[in-house]
Amino acid sequence: MERERRALAHVFDRMVPDADQAAMAVEGTGRRTVGKEVFEDTQPRVKLAGTVVVDEAGKHFRLYSKSSMYAFCVDPVGRIEHLYWGKALPPNDDLTYLSFSNGPAKLQRAAVAKNHLRAKASAPVSTGKEALGSDEDNGIALLDSESSVDGGTVKNYSNMHTIEGTEKSLAGDTTTADTHMAMTSALGISNLQDLLDAGSVFRAQIDSSTSIKCPLPWENPRTFLGEWAGAATFGRPSKLLEFGEGSTGDYRSPSFDLRFQDGGRVCPFRYQSHRVVSGKQPMQHINGRLPELHANVENATTLVVTLVDEQSLLECDLVYTVFNDVDAIVRRVVVRNTTAHPILVQKLMSATVDFHTSNSYFLTHLSGSWANERRIVSKELSMGRVCIDSCRGTSSHQHNPFAALSVGQPQENDGEVYGMTLVYSGNFVAESDMCENGRVRLQMGINPNNFEWELKSNDIFESPECVLVFSDSGLTGMSHQFHSLFRHHLLPKQFKNTVCPVLINTWEAMYFDTTYANVMSLAKGAAKSGVEMLVVDDGWFGSRDDATSSLGDWYVCKKKLPEGLAKLAQDINDLGMHFGLWVEPELVSHKSRLYQKRPDWILHKPDVNKDSADGDFVLDLTRTDVQNYLIDCMSSVFESANIEYVKWDMNSHITEIYSDHAAPSAQGKVYHQYCMGLYQILNTLTSRFPRIRFETCCGGGGRFDAGMLQYSPQIWTSDNTDATSRLFIQHGTSLVYPPSCISAHISSVPNHQTLRISSFKFRFLVSLFGSLGLELNIATIEERECAELSMYLQLCKALSPIVHEGEFYRLWNPVDSKQLCAWMSYHQGRGEAVVAAFLLTSDPGHYLPRLRLKGLEPQSNYLVEEIIPSTAAHNVQTGRIEACPAPIYKLGKKSITASGRTLMSAGLPVHLIYDGDTAAFFIRDISRFM
Ligand code: GLA
Repeated sequence: MERERRALAHVFDRMVPDADQAAMAVEGTGRRTVGKEVFEDTQPRVKLAGTVVVDEAGKHFRLYSKSSMYAFCVDPVGRIEHLYWGKALPPNDDLTYLSFSNGPAKLQRAAVAKNHLRAKASAPVSTGKEALGSDEDNGIALLDSESSVDGGTVKNYSNMHTIEGTEKSLAGDTTTADTHMAMTSALGISNLQDLLDAGSVFRAQIDSSTSIKCPLPWENPRTFLGEWAGAATFGRPSKLLEFGEGSTGDYRSPSFDLRFQDGGRVCPFRYQSHRVVSGKQPMQHINGRLPELHANVENATTLVVTLVDEQSLLECDLVYTVFNDVDAIVRRVVVRNTTAHPILVQKLMSATVDFHTSNSYFLTHLSGSWANERRIVSKELSMGRVCIDSCRGTSSHQHNPFAALSVGQPQENDGEVYGMTLVYSGNFVAESDMCENGRVRLQMGINPNNFEWELKSNDIFESPECVLVFSDSGLTGMSHQFHSLFRHHLLPKQFKNTVCPVLINTWEAMYFDTTYANVMSLAKGAAKSGVEMLVVDDGWFGSRDDATSSLGDWYVCKKKLPEGLAKLAQDINDLGMHFGLWVEPELVSHKSRLYQKRPDWILHKPDVNKDSADGDFVLDLTRTDVQNYLIDCMSSVFESANIEYVKWDMNSHITEIYSDHAAPSAQGKVYHQYCMGLYQILNTLTSRFPRIRFETCCGGGGRFDAGMLQYSPQIWTSDNTDATSRLFIQHGTSLVYPPSCISAHISSVPNHQTLRISSFKFRFLVSLFGSLGLELNIATIEERECAELSMYLQLCKALSPIVHEGEFYRLWNPVDSKQLCAWMSYHQGRGEAVVAAFLLTSDPGHYLPRLRLKGLEPQSNYLVEEIIPSTAAHNVQTGRIEACPAPIYKLGKKSITASGRTLMSAGLPVHLIYDGDTAAFFIRDISRFM
């Protein structure tokens, strides 16, 4: 057995030389289910990436993604016990030992063993008294030294304790020490240490069998549960679970909270069955539409584990999809009310992952505010709960539905990071809960705050999907997994691997003055510079001269555009540009025809006065008549002209949540139904108008989430267009979202939000690492700048495919250094990279570090060319920074040649000298073009 295992390990090592393998192969023994197939010893080589391996006998499940693995099993009482998440392990390695040590604390195992001992009470008596230690060491002392029976490790049992004392403390048992001594002896256990480690006795029996059996008291789940219940007064051990119940002694934040008709909420779900499905099992969209990742039978496998509450017979499915091309798993939970009575779903997390104790856990998330979204925050966890959430109706500017756990402060390039994001655009929560023994639960789902879903008999409730990614190469690896997953399995397929046309948006150029003359003047200037699309932002409809009116009145303002949208679009097309339009359909202004006609269509509490004199209301998207109205209304706008781009905005959070349309008992559904109503509208419109590229927006970046990415391949990142601010915002956003999804516009100077002045080159380079556009009035920029702009736009067209299809690297972190930022994108297929470095605050006399590149092939030789070299240099005679007639190259010359190894190890010397100074390089693998 051992020899065989070693041989398999050897095969695995050969097949999995590093973490980057595309697929793993092993020689198998025994019978397992891989995806749909069952394979025997005779079918030796099986690709594991993207498959689910099930040990049918032991009910162990291993989900293999590209190069990582996620494993769990059914425990003796039928809970789904988490075993492992990390680098892929050979399927032949027996992980039952993880399960064993994950069980009740040793103290409780002692209690279990005690039952077994009792069962053996008739065994022949022999003494073992000497080994049992002094009578003064009693169990109470042991408990005190433990301070808890909640799954903690036994810290102090070097002094032997009497079994009697221990047992008394555990269960108030009065059995005599002699009897126990007799029993321990019968088992070959000579001291308490052995008794506490009695697991080894069971373990031996598990090892001797290929299938996993749970002998002795474990065989009977009820007995086992009984033992656990004995400890429940203090808290059940924090067993690592996939779906944690509350109310039965596990005091961590539960994965769900369901209330039965009798008011009870005890619901111990237990394993019932499982099935493995090729590809991805699509959502049912029974409660309404939700976004979801897509996959096909070749690149994914889905495991559905069905649980049942034996008391109420309520059922639920834990659904896992694993992908072969990315280290990601997508999870969701489906509750089926198979009982005769309605139940209330008050909390249902899409994914729960329990992590075993480690030295120091850090939680990383993206938090901020309007105009300052998604700053990276990392903090060390201590005992207790941390909750990152939104209750604003959108995923929010304040917190992003993302959280990552790492052991120690997360590193950019090294170390293991576990990331989670929710495919959802409404109220969410990401919770971490470190319990007293250092174990951490991380989970994410719909925010239970203000959520309550009545599930009638036979009804189904589906949670949104949650994405889990594993990286053993720090935050960079995590970002690459998210980016790759979203690009290949989430973004609208028709826009996959396409670069958005360079657009100019009218907002900061003219705000509400979107007259035909203004728009055409902008369009003409833009066309000359090489801009490919013009997007008319706010102000084109109703009597919209400022933010106080007309939302809902989606007809053209004839005063501004006398000949309508069709003519404007045509004229812009005639300039060789595409035409796009801004809309904000979810809101209605108090001053609008729509509100006069349908005041009942808004979300509000009728008896609570909402101050709306100059404001707007959020339409009640829970109503299908409102959804249909918006679908029809927007369809006629989109059909009215040659519109190829739509910026879908939403400049409000939801307050006074209440739907007149819903019964009092259904008010807890409104936030979630709103979100699903929005998805229904977006789904219909994006399917009806597949040529239109959508950009979603929410007062800037207040709804930047994976849910929106199913419908819009890019999202407006922030209302703050200042390039320096954007460095921070885009840096944080890139942690989860690919650069192609990050709308990044060059705006005018002084910047409208910060009044900061930065060079055109600085602004261009920041925007280049996103979906580049313009947010300025070309008509007002100098001729010299127009020429500069044309050059930038040409560069953008050449370099954007590298940024959009390549892998993104954060080389220098502005958050840490406050002084420097550098980014790089490397397109492996092309062997090309683009790199930019930014100096935020100069520190005269201090040298900058060398800029070490990443992701290149160490053996390949690269040509490094500086693009857009600056002409600024220090005049050593005067000490001034002066403009020189010739370009000043940071590398001393226009280009150098160096191996990938040199560029990554020695790096590039980058002399940036003044605040806002920048350098940019284009790098090519020489073998590709020589
Ligand atoms: C939001 C957007 C801006 C602009 C305005 C128009 O704030 O983020 O880009 O479209 O609305 O009102």
